[in-house]
Amino acid sequence: MDKHYTVAIDGPSGAGKSTIARAAAARFGFIYVDTGAMYRTVGLAAARAGLPLGSEERIIALLPGLDIRFGYAEDGRQRMYLNGEDVTGLIRTPEISMRASEVSAMPEVRAYLLDMQRRMAERQSVVMDGRDIGTVVLPQADLKIFLTASARRRAQRRYKELVEKGEDVSFERVLAELEERDKNDSSRAAAPLRRADDALLVDTSELTLEESIERVCALIEGRMGGDLID
Ligand code: DC
Repeated sequence: MDKHYTVAIDGPSGAGKSTIARAAAARFGFIYVDTGAMYRTVGLAAARAGLPLGSEERIIALLPGLDIRFGYAEDGRQRMYLNGEDVTGLIRTPEISMRASEVSAMPEVRAYLLDMQRRMAERQSVVMDGRDIGTVVLPQADLKIFLTASARRRAQRRYKELVEKGEDVSFERVLAELEERDKNDSSRAAAPLRRADDALLVDTSELTLEESIERVCALIEGRMGGDLID
């Protein structure tokens, strides 16, 4: 396969983007890039520096001192490193979700991560997920998908995930936080969550995970056709 492909998957949190994008990437032998994990890593760095919510200038001042990297485990799962430390598990708490949402509204943070994201898609085929991949990061992507589901359905899925991980949370809190993040992500001035004009809509509210994966893989196959066969 000479040409490399870029698939952009955007949508609100909890729509199943990362699981679906990871599975689709594995099926086609593409690299999976979870850009939300990068915002979460910056959010973790801000939390660790003891910076209160809202201290924008001090968060921006932290950026030059951060070393944020991606790695891939043998099973193809992405891992995140902050200054050499594997923080993959630490960035998945509700507190860091809110922090990530906060730092992702800062244009300086977005600019800092944009280069890294574009470079990853330059030399290899990727499925990249986030909020602004089809609109800002990879506007020339070969395929753009906007993946969504109702807020209640997304909160139910997130709640189940957190409970399985042993987190002590209530469903109401998960739903309220998800709605707040939706609002932050869609209403911010810098690269708000928005469906690109040429993105295909996939609503997973009534689909199982397997059905959602099949739907997305069918779209990738349909767009790339015979090219995918080496
Ligand atoms: O997808 P996620 O929940 O891991 O994302 C964490 C936060 O980062 C979320 O509030 C949205 C934000 N984000 C963003 O603004 N742009 C991206 N490309 C990816 C995530």
